[in-house]
Amino acid sequence: MRQNLIARTAALMGKSEIELLSSAEKLEKLLLLTTPYLQKNDLGVGHTKRVLEIARKRLNIPVETEELAVASIILHDIGGRTIKDQYEKGPEIAAVLLRQLDFPIEFAKQVCEIIRTHHERLDSLPVAFQILYDADQLVRFSEEEFPYYESIGTNWNAVIERMYFSESKVWAMELLRERRKSKGPSLQH
Ligand SMILES: [Fe+2]
Repeated sequence: MRQNLIARTAALMGKSEIELLSSAEKLEKLLLLTTPYLQKNDLGVGHTKRVLEIARKRLNIPVETEELAVASIILHDIGGRTIKDQYEKGPEIAAVLLRQLDFPIEFAKQVCEIIRTHHERLDSLPVAFQILYDADQLVRFSEEEFPYYESIGTNWNAVIERMYFSESKVWAMELLRERRKSKGPSLQH
């Protein structure tokens, strides 16, 4: 219904449909466009959706940063399975998709800058970067991803220490206790 209305209104105003979409609708479309790329990754689009949910529900995203943070999260793993591909190929693909949805060039540049180094724990980066970083670390404590990271001997304390926000650290410690408990005493050495 709404889609039809947008199409008709756009035609009447001589504008493209994209120009009439709200920011939230554009970000929703961005996630759809990103999905085929992410499906090739080990954790698939499910990982990206989990990171997004954590950021939205658990981190305080300032309103003025929301669009940048959400777009960066949606696009952060788009370059491929390895971090090298994500850093090297991701920004180019991200720029194309953002242009397709009519996001301003300056905005696309900021997103590309963020995803180009999204695993590095650098100081004095934009809040949107910090939100992506923390949410992308917190997701490792999720039921779906914890077993893998536990099996490769992740140093959980180091992961927690490197998070930017204290609310991330508190929640991560809670999750860690929960995961260890649900593993059951018989599995603990
Ligand atoms: Fe990620």
